[in-house]
Amino acid sequence: MATQEHPMPRFPDGFLWGVSTSAHQIEGAAELRERSVWDEFTDRPGRVKDGSTAAVACDHYHRYREDVALLADLGVGAYRFSVSWPRVNSPGGLDFYDRLVDELCAAGVRPVVTLFHWDLPAGLDWLQRDTASRFADHVSGVAERLGDRVHKWITLNEPAEHTLLGHALGVHAPGKRLLFDALPVAHHQLLAHGLAVRALRAAGVTDIGIANSHGPTWPASREQADVEAADFYDVLLNRLFADPVLLGAYPAGLGELMPGDDVEADLKVIAEPLDWYGVNYYAPTKVGAPQGAEIEFGGVSMPADLPFSVREITDVPLTDFGWPVVPEALTELLTGFRDRYGDRLPPVMITENGCSYEGVDDRQRIAFLDGHIRALHRAVAAGVDVRGYFVWSLLDNFEWAEGYARRFGLIHVDYPTQKRTPKASYHWYRELLRAQE
Ligand code: FCB
Repeated sequence: MATQEHPMPRFPDGFLWGVSTSAHQIEGAAELRERSVWDEFTDRPGRVKDGSTAAVACDHYHRYREDVALLADLGVGAYRFSVSWPRVNSPGGLDFYDRLVDELCAAGVRPVVTLFHWDLPAGLDWLQRDTASRFADHVSGVAERLGDRVHKWITLNEPAEHTLLGHALGVHAPGKRLLFDALPVAHHQLLAHGLAVRALRAAGVTDIGIANSHGPTWPASREQADVEAADFYDVLLNRLFADPVLLGAYPAGLGELMPGDDVEADLKVIAEPLDWYGVNYYAPTKVGAPQGAEIEFGGVSMPADLPFSVREITDVPLTDFGWPVVPEALTELLTGFRDRYGDRLPPVMITENGCSYEGVDDRQRIAFLDGHIRALHRAVAAGVDVRGYFVWSLLDNFEWAEGYARRFGLIHVDYPTQKRTPKASYHWYRELLRAQE
């Protein structure tokens, strides 16, 4: 993959460059907060591959000043982090975010807050409708406290993965394997999103979005069975969470399966207008007709009776996590999104994009980011209104069911000593940001 041979094209004025993290993956200090569904999950043997927990993680809770200094030195315009609901429920919990936000503002880095990044307080359950209104109450409290300084708000992170991995396939917390009976989890998160938007507006804040995961779905062949299976997967991954938010409607056939007395009324809440739409992009997925056997894909065992099967993408490089590296699929995704949603699509922000590679001299990460940022620029040149790009992630961190085995950071973390070492990609990104100023 060629890098830096041609200068990076300029992005529009005001384009927001950033990096992302999430609370559970970096904060540690688990004893200073309530437990979350992820604590319960990691305590169950065999659930996290290396047997680790996020009890200490990057100890960011205690080292946030050092981490903000690294952000400032990197020169990002914004930092996306999440507020842990279990921490906010604990005495002094919001004080931590208050200090973090102040530190960021003092360093000239705009805070972008995600209000839910999978660490649901233990005891709550997205199968229950009232989790949505509880979330909205929680959001009101956070907005009241931080609203005067936060630059942008994100209601939910990747409700698709939280539904699919956590509730349908059981490989993430809370570890439920409900298959299609997990659909209420999707609906209740979407309702929580809409209620949170209302709570934020009521608290007087602006600049609200969501961070949904998306990627092109490629049929395994032109055979009708493969094309239909891929369309079905596309609905689950790309449309189930975007159509209700952007169009106020579920894809055909799904609305009837959702819980509640008045799904139409819920959809009005879910479709509260947004100021921008966040896209987390990692890779495309190749999908074909079911193969009649349980398959193992990316560490996830997929039951035989699903109406599709995920296939390997073989002719491209893979990250250390085994994810295909296909920068041009980001252009395809964004132009396709614009064509699908037209003027219902608000300005887009890439709220996550990144890769897992070992090592501090991480040229493969540089090649990955370089390729994806160029692909993003092609989408901008094709007329997609993209306003920002956030690398996942600032630091190596607790990668959910993979534990600490996957390293997504621009900064290496030596977990025993907590020493931070900026990688080659950190220096590369800093140069890119300078050149874009
Ligand atoms: C996304 C998650 C994020 C991180 C990256 C690698 O799905 O939002 O927390 O785990 O993947």
